[in-house]
Amino acid sequence: MDNTPTTDTSAPAALGLLADKVAFITGAGRGIGAAAARLFAREGARVLLAARTEAQLKAVTEEVRAAGGTADYVVCDLADAAGARAAVDRTVDLYGRLDVAFNNGATIQTPGPMDQLPEADFDHVYAVNLKGVWLAMVAQIAAIRATARTGAIVNNSSVGSLMGNPELPAYGAMKRAVNSLTESAAVTYGPEGIRVNAIAPGHTATEMIRTWEADSPGLVERLKAHTPLRRAADPDEIAQAAAWLLSDRSSYVTGTVLRVDGGARA
Ligand SMILES: NC(=O)c1ccc[n+]([C@@H]2O[C@H](COP(=O)([O-])OP(=O)(O)OC[C@H]3O[C@@H](n4cnc5c(N)ncnc54)[C@H](OP(=O)(O)O)[C@@H]3O)[C@@H](O)[C@H]2O)c1
Repeated sequence: MDNTPTTDTSAPAALGLLADKVAFITGAGRGIGAAAARLFAREGARVLLAARTEAQLKAVTEEVRAAGGTADYVVCDLADAAGARAAVDRTVDLYGRLDVAFNNGATIQTPGPMDQLPEADFDHVYAVNLKGVWLAMVAQIAAIRATARTGAIVNNSSVGSLMGNPELPAYGAMKRAVNSLTESAAVTYGPEGIRVNAIAPGHTATEMIRTWEADSPGLVERLKAHTPLRRAADPDEIAQAAAWLLSDRSSYVTGTVLRVDGGARA
């Protein structure tokens, strides 16, 4: 099957990296997901924002609209199978298609050695950070197939998936499994022109890090010291990598886990 994109490379570059695309973003109420919603809309996409906290989703949606973008939101808990599917379907109901998806929403665990983690907490991290990504991907593949036919998915993993993660062992395990799901999906859906990649962010200034710092004082300074660029990423710097991987500019990239980590794993 020939799934070569039909982009005319002799024409002047389109206005936005994601011009004319419909994008679905989880965890879009704050942090990296909110930065992605703002960026993807600036780059020409119509965006649907999903997360649990309506007030945050509403605020980001209104911000995007005030800047001239097209956005809407849906409240959903990624741990709820029906809710995750309904959120993806809402994108197609609203905008008539799905081209790209950024599976970014995730939860952090209470930091500490794995023998101290309550079983219920492990189950929650599994339900949101791994099963939730799988549920969303399954719905997204179906929606892309039924509408745009070809497309791209980016899963937000973590640099913490690439090594032992003694402070966040369940979180690290789920993120490593997300890398595996990403690679498997890339192989399965590549022949029909659906690309699937992951990004592995390093230390990024968001609520997730503030929560971790509250439990582990001094964390932020430790992370900076272990990052060659000696600073945290701004959420927009992470969203930029996702935007590129979702765009036609990365048309021959699939099955990769792209570190966006200030050199932390170099
Ligand atoms: N910050 C970092 O240093 C860093 C580093 C590596 C990877 N990451 C990854 O980057 C992604 C974004 O994290 P962030 O740093 O931007 O954290 P954040 O500010 O805490 O944002 C997390 C987002 O996920 C949503 N979310 C959490 N649980 C959810 C659930 N059950 N159902 C639906 N949505 C849910 C949150 O909204 P609600 O709570 O309203 O649902 C929020 O919008 C995550 O995948 C994280 O693992 C972050």
